[in-house]
Amino acid sequence: MTAWTPLWGRRELLKAAWVGPSAAAVALGGAYAAARQEPDEGEVAEQPDEAALEAYRAGFAAPPLERVRIGFVGVGLQGGSHVRNFLRIDGVEVVAICDIDEPRAEEVASWVVDAGGASPELYTRGDTDFKRLCERDDVDLVFNATPWRWHVPVCVEAMETGKHTAVEVPAAITLEGCWRLVETAERTGRHCVMMENCNYGRSEMMVLSMVRQGLLGDLLHGEAAYIHDLRSLKFSDRNEGLWRLQHSVERNANLYPTHGLGPVAQCMDINRGDCFDYLVSLSSPAKGLALYAAERFGDDDPRAKVRYALGDMNSSLIRTRRGRSILLQHDTTTPRPYSRLNLVQGTRGVFAGFPDRIFIEGEAEGHDWSEVEPYRERFEHPLWAERAGDAEGAGHGGMDYLEDYRLVRCLLEGAPTDMDVYDAAALSAPVELSELSVARGSEPVEFPDFTRGAYRTRPPLGIVA
Ligand SMILES: NC(=O)c1ccc[n+]([C@@H]2O[C@H](COP(=O)([O-])OP(=O)(O)OC[C@H]3O[C@@H](n4cnc5c(N)ncnc54)[C@H](O)[C@@H]3O)[C@@H](O)[C@H]2O)c1
Repeated sequence: MTAWTPLWGRRELLKAAWVGPSAAAVALGGAYAAARQEPDEGEVAEQPDEAALEAYRAGFAAPPLERVRIGFVGVGLQGGSHVRNFLRIDGVEVVAICDIDEPRAEEVASWVVDAGGASPELYTRGDTDFKRLCERDDVDLVFNATPWRWHVPVCVEAMETGKHTAVEVPAAITLEGCWRLVETAERTGRHCVMMENCNYGRSEMMVLSMVRQGLLGDLLHGEAAYIHDLRSLKFSDRNEGLWRLQHSVERNANLYPTHGLGPVAQCMDINRGDCFDYLVSLSSPAKGLALYAAERFGDDDPRAKVRYALGDMNSSLIRTRRGRSILLQHDTTTPRPYSRLNLVQGTRGVFAGFPDRIFIEGEAEGHDWSEVEPYRERFEHPLWAERAGDAEGAGHGGMDYLEDYRLVRCLLEGAPTDMDVYDAAALSAPVELSELSVARGSEPVEFPDFTRGAYRTRPPLGIVA
């Protein structure tokens, strides 16, 4: 902990700086109400004894499963894509599907039957019908690909009813939500895995392999981002268009930190030797959404008159306890090509993504970037070397398949999962931390250490095959 950083505890942090829905949210009425509210949160129950907690924090592994029986909650675009992956992975059964959109649930269930599985039972009676799914005694894993505000309630319900859970990104959109996931996982002794698919990207895994083999030297700095023009999607009348815009109306923050940050954090052994320490954050003006809406729908359209809270470019700087720095950016509302930056800088060289390039001292000429291809053969991650064929055609260039495959392998083998609840919390925490820092004129805000000191001794993630 740094001496000069404000010593806010997590509860104080939560109380301190939330400024409430903007006038725009009020103007648009119920459709945009309370984007950040994670429904149905009660008090956290008593924790188990310290020895059990220490064992969990050291690296939790559950008893091996014979088969992984999955109950899905949320089978929209991303949930549906995961279902397709699991139907191609040995040892998996999709036994139940919950979605508030009944025709969609039926459509996805038909894929299971077409693949030779038994027809999954459907749960389509509204927002909290996932509770009935969680009551089943033939589900091992509740896979949660709902809109953000439902991530924590569904995962908590799953763990409380004895299931492991996997959740799409970000795992939580508040610090309180991050803590609820950690405390519930520790108390119930269940896995809570955030499905950060970018940790399984081909280039990202190659960089991890380079780092583990010492090619880049000692790590100093990283750059991570989610820069993705989502203006059209945010104004769509289906899928994410139904829920994502409201967060832009209400919150000025990095709303989606995990895709860029996950791989960099993995290289830097965050929660496994190092730990995020504090963050400062700054947002540009918010012009992109209103301008886009005026051009597309007309100046008088209510969507063009909203005062969106979300600054178009949010830039945060993170310092780790070992003194490394990370630039973390978020921009989903300007005309700009896609990038996650994916830069890892060490004492011997640097890798940068979008497009991939590398510079290794002693191997490169002058001050110019080198091509990555000659390095691929030496540093291709074994998971990609062995499974690229299986991953072909799956979502996001195949990385989604590999993350699903790895999750199943770990559950079948009774091994610790590659990503765990501490990663879910640490990678999701910048949502609220950046919001707090922006609201306070870029003051530093401390990261909670969700591992409560265990990060010092937890072993780094190896090169898993
Ligand atoms: N990892 C990635 O690359 C990636 C890509 C896209 C989306 N995502 C994440 O996946 C999640 C879902 O995104 P999406 O694009 O599939 O959105 P989507 O809107 O297409 O799907 C969400 C689904 O959840 C259903 N739903 C809503 N509330 C529900 C509830 N209470 N109970 C059950 N079902 C409910 C909706 O009907 C819909 O079918 C989000 O967290 C998003 O951030 C991740």
